[in-house]
This record gives sequence, C-alpha cells and structure tokens, in this order.
Amino acid sequence: MTEVTMTVNGKSVSRPVRGNELLVEFLREQLRLTGTHVGCDTSQCGACCVHVNGELVKACTMFAAEADGAEVATIEGMANADGSLNVIQQAFQDHHGLQCGFCTPGMVMAAAALLKDNPTPTEAEIRHYLQGNICRCTGYHNIIKAIMAASGQDAGKIAAE
Ligand code: FES
Ligand code: FES
Repeated sequence: MTEVTMTVNGKSVSRPVRGNELLVEFLREQLRLTGTHVGCDTSQCGACCVHVNGELVKACTMFAAEADGAEVATIEGMANADGSLNVIQQAFQDHHGLQCGFCTPGMVMAAAALLKDNPTPTEAEIRHYLQGNICRCTGYHNIIKAIMAASGQDAGKIAAE
C-alpha cells in the first residue's frame, strides 16, 4: 500500500491505496463518491469521466497513485455553491438529456471539459467530443441539445435525429 494525497472537489484527502487500485475504485470505494460510474471494463463507455488537473480523464484508465498530488473534480462537486444545479446539469434536466441517468455524470463532466476549452461548440464539435461517452437510452439528441443550451446557443437549431 502507498499513501496518496489529492484534492477532490476542493477537499484534501489522504488514503493508503493498492498499487493496482484504479482512480475510479478509489473515488467510489474509499471516498464513497459513487456518482462516478463504471459502465464497462474496456475504457470505452465514459461513465467514469472526471477531471484531473482540469483535464477530462476516464477514471478507470488511471491508477489512484498516479493522481497523487492532483486536483480531482467529480460530479459531486459540480453543483453551484448553494446546492443548485449548475448550468450544464440544469440544461440536461430542461432538455431531457437523460433517461436512466447512468451515463449522465460522465456526460456532464465531458460537457464541462468541452465548454471550458470551447465555450460555443457547434453541434458537430459536440458530437465529436462525446465520441468517448456512450449512452444506451437517449439517442444522444437531447444530450446535444442540452449542451448547446448550456453554452447559450439555440438548442432548437440542431439537426433532426
Ligand atoms: S468505466 Fe471507464 S470508460 Fe467505461
Ligand atoms: S441515459 Fe441511460 S445510458 Fe444514457
């Protein structure tokens, strides 16, 4: 076991970790931050997306020990300070960008990373950016609408399904 220290959603945490412990296991099992989901064992689904030092990362592809000293953000840290939904979360709600919700934390984290670098992405740019996030329910259409709306653009202008 190795002791790691990282900042998760603004709070410093230190825990012993196994050498092969994944960041997603650390977040879910040690910190009980179960909003970060595990939807595959092939690094394809994106349900485990978090931010590490401001970059979008699939938390199943990184060892916890590799995040030693890092700033990690998860879906639990995305709400506004008063507990209300942030603009992306609210847009997913308003535009029905989720059904079962399993993919949603990863989608929101991916959307936040996209909008940080590209505040007004085109529909094509959103679709391209989300290629690492799989949704089994929505057909993606309303997810794209939600991200368009969260970026202040007209969600009604995206192509028909
Ligand atoms: S659980 Fe990480 S990509 Fe599927
Ligand atoms: S809402 Fe069910 S997997 Fe996306």
